[in-house]
Amino acid sequence: MNILIIGTGYVGTSTALVFAELGHKVIGLDTDIRKIDELNRGKLHFYEKGLDHLFYKHLEKGNVQFTTDTEQAIKKSKVIFICVGTPNNDDGSANLQFVEQVARNIGHFINNYKVIVIKSTVPVGVSEKVREWIAESKKNKVRFDVVSNPEFLREGSALWDAMHPDRIVIGSRSEKATLIVSKLYQSLNALIIVTTPQAAELIKYASNAFLATKISFINEMAKLCDKLDINILQIAEGMGMDHRIGPYFLEAGIGYGGSCFPKDLNALLDTAKRKGVPLSLLEKVVDINQTQPLYVIEKLKNKLRLLKKKRICVLGLSFKPETDDTRESRAFPIIRELINQGAEVAVHDPIVQLSDDMFQSSVKQFETEQQATQKVDAVIICTNWSQYIRVDWKEILINMSGNVLLDGRNMLNAQEMKEIGFDYEGVGYK
Ligand code: UDX
Repeated sequence: MNILIIGTGYVGTSTALVFAELGHKVIGLDTDIRKIDELNRGKLHFYEKGLDHLFYKHLEKGNVQFTTDTEQAIKKSKVIFICVGTPNNDDGSANLQFVEQVARNIGHFINNYKVIVIKSTVPVGVSEKVREWIAESKKNKVRFDVVSNPEFLREGSALWDAMHPDRIVIGSRSEKATLIVSKLYQSLNALIIVTTPQAAELIKYASNAFLATKISFINEMAKLCDKLDINILQIAEGMGMDHRIGPYFLEAGIGYGGSCFPKDLNALLDTAKRKGVPLSLLEKVVDINQTQPLYVIEKLKNKLRLLKKKRICVLGLSFKPETDDTRESRAFPIIRELINQGAEVAVHDPIVQLSDDMFQSSVKQFETEQQATQKVDAVIICTNWSQYIRVDWKEILINMSGNVLLDGRNMLNAQEMKEIGFDYEGVGYK
């Protein structure tokens, strides 16, 4: 089938390549000429494990093309996926200006029956709005359907998630459109749930809110574990064995970041507020996540007392491993607080490069863990990059001034680190 993906950001480009892999002809459309030029020249503008392989393969075979020609792209395609960003406004609500612009363009150029699929995460009711925006801009009698088909892929494992989805949610009021969208995914043999567009929109928000709740829950338990001298890893393991709870998203640490959880929780809270339904549990989930990075600073101060003039190394800048995405990364509130308290900060990340203006001259980035930890009083692990497990921690300790190691992701073996000579502490784990 001829598919158009509007918005060649992270979700759009990943979706385009996955559909190409599933045997469809795909066009990626964006207004950003530079991005489209780069994509056509074979340059992927973000890092995602395994995606470059699909990118080169399908670009070379001509299964995927990138363009800025809105009119031609819309006219040529039968199914149009909207994958543009929906960032938060200052009040937490979702900013729908890009979605509206795209919908109006579709209305303007639509030339025969098309299915418009919304993959961007949008508040409940926006599918209906998109239908209205298209209808308002349309000058002919051509029919179209709007379907909600939210995306659940995780950065770092987007390809695996897209090829092995737990479920595909199709929110549609038209049998014809439902059939067309289901067919796109046919070869995946995945479970498909068909529901209304509004319910599909809420499934996405509710899923992310629930996962974030699990994380904030385990982070609170971890704080209690610290006081009770109990290992949170064992609590999570014991809880996770209960099928009703499940083992996932029970990893305690410095909190969740990324482009989805923080943004989606804000948008859901905004929707609820507008409807006069206070979601106090989710408000607390957000609060806990905001204070969680500072919990590590508290631990650091317990060990070093004053942070002024202390040299601290932060390992990991991305919001999670296997991605170069730093949006809402928990490393940043930690770095900011260290600077506020007068510490000198050294950082390392396997792929993220801090821009020069980010923290002015207060932070120094190093190429290797060995360089970043030279002569530091303490190390804080913010991202669980697997290479931090393989680091020669004995050698690191020899070259440090102090011996404090705070593991914000509970990724190292506490016993081993203590045997080496570190004053090691995780979150609810020591
Ligand atoms: C998330 C959802 O998982 C995905 O379904 C949705 O479509 C987009 O948002 P993503 O943001 O890529 O995906 O990452 P995810 O793996 O969910 O992790 C989010 C954050 O939570 C990361 O900062 C991670 O470190 C943190 N996390 C995750 C924990 O702190 N503990 C856990 O147990 C799991």
